[in-house]
Amino acid sequence: MSVKEQTYIMVKPDGVMRSIVGEIIKRFETKGYKLVALKMAVPSREHLEKHYEDLNGRPFFAGLINYMASGPVVCMVWEGRNVVLEGRKMLGATKPSESALGTIRGDFCIDVGRNVCHGSDAVESAQKEIALWFPEGLCEYEKPTVSWVY
Ligand code: PPS
Repeated sequence: MSVKEQTYIMVKPDGVMRSIVGEIIKRFETKGYKLVALKMAVPSREHLEKHYEDLNGRPFFAGLINYMASGPVVCMVWEGRNVVLEGRKMLGATKPSESALGTIRGDFCIDVGRNVCHGSDAVESAQKEIALWFPEGLCEYEKPTVSWVY
């Protein structure tokens, strides 16, 4: 798997309001992944509907859009070996009741409708999400020592 694999990670409005943005960033940083894009945004409903377009028609769709439009989110792109799959593991299962302790959701939430973070579920969806949230492009740079950066 390419070291250049990238994933889109987003701290949802409840994560911002609960002041765990730094904790989430810290986990990805200390795991050894490379941050290549970061910003805050208050996304429009239209933008969120595009992001979640595959879920349109699901019973929770309207509630999910309302929740995601309720405040600022923190948008990030992390890069490194297997980061899509590993990132999902770090987030934990979608439903906090099924998320293992030690994962972000397992440690910080109890409600699927307020599950603090989003992570791309596949390389292809990561590419789509990165293009949607970062049309301006990513930050390209080299880390001085790379042997221990995955
Ligand atoms: S699926 O298609 O059933 O497998 O959906 P799933 O991967 O479990 O979840 C897709 C996204 O929908 C969010 N979700 C919900 N939001 C609010 N309320 C309810 N009940 C709910 N169920 C699922 C879930 O958090 C996923 O969003 P992201 O942003 O990827 O976490």
